[in-house]
Amino acid sequence: MDAHREATRAAYDTVASAYANALPDLSYEAPLDRAMITEVVRELPERASLLDAGCGTGRLLAHLREQHPSLRLVGVDLSEGMLAEASRATSDVELARADLAALPFEDARFDAVVAWYSVIHTPTDGLGNIFRELARVSIPGAVILVAFQVGSGERTVRRAYGREVSLTAHLHMPSDVESVLDSVGFQREASLVRAPRATEAHSQAILLARRRLG
Ligand SMILES: C[S@@+](CC[C@H](N)C(=O)[O-])C[C@H]1O[C@@H](n2cnc3c(N)ncnc32)[C@H](O)[C@@H]1O
Repeated sequence: MDAHREATRAAYDTVASAYANALPDLSYEAPLDRAMITEVVRELPERASLLDAGCGTGRLLAHLREQHPSLRLVGVDLSEGMLAEASRATSDVELARADLAALPFEDARFDAVVAWYSVIHTPTDGLGNIFRELARVSIPGAVILVAFQVGSGERTVRRAYGREVSLTAHLHMPSDVESVLDSVGFQREASLVRAPRATEAHSQAILLARRRLG
């Protein structure tokens, strides 16, 4: 694992239990943001297979398990600490530790992929490696949902969830992310870009795209 990924992993191992306490579910998410998650699963058939890419403490997996009991849910994350929290938060979910750019899954395994604030520690020019891998493990026609903070540049986070860390957070422009998605075979279906709430420093983007059939 390269030094940057290792630093991200170490930071999330440090904050894992505090993160799980601070954000136990999706109630922090804006209703519009949650609506995008609802839209992804609305059309999925019974027992569809969904990958939570960068699942963290599993709060999204727990939400999906409750709302859609038949889904076959898989979570993957860099951080053992976050995955340990996820295994407590969810039942009947397969969890794996891996880098999003090198997934331990066969081609065309998933009907849907969600990357909920998990590409925020990767610079925009590194997103191709991640989205190419997410395209590989998605069936043709699969939906992908990607959430991130809007902007450009990066910042170093020294304190998070009450713990000292060293973590780099990257902002992305929605048009850049859309064009990387397009280049690996995901066609844009919808883009939600909303103004920051009082608790947020940046606008938030949630992009919905679909893997091309051909
Ligand atoms: C801000 S948290 C979001 C977690 C979860 N999606 C949520 O909404 O609560 C970012 C997560 O992405 C994971 N992550 C970041 N870069 C990753 C990568 N390259 N491969 C796998 N996981 C990654 C981190 O370990 C962390 O758990």
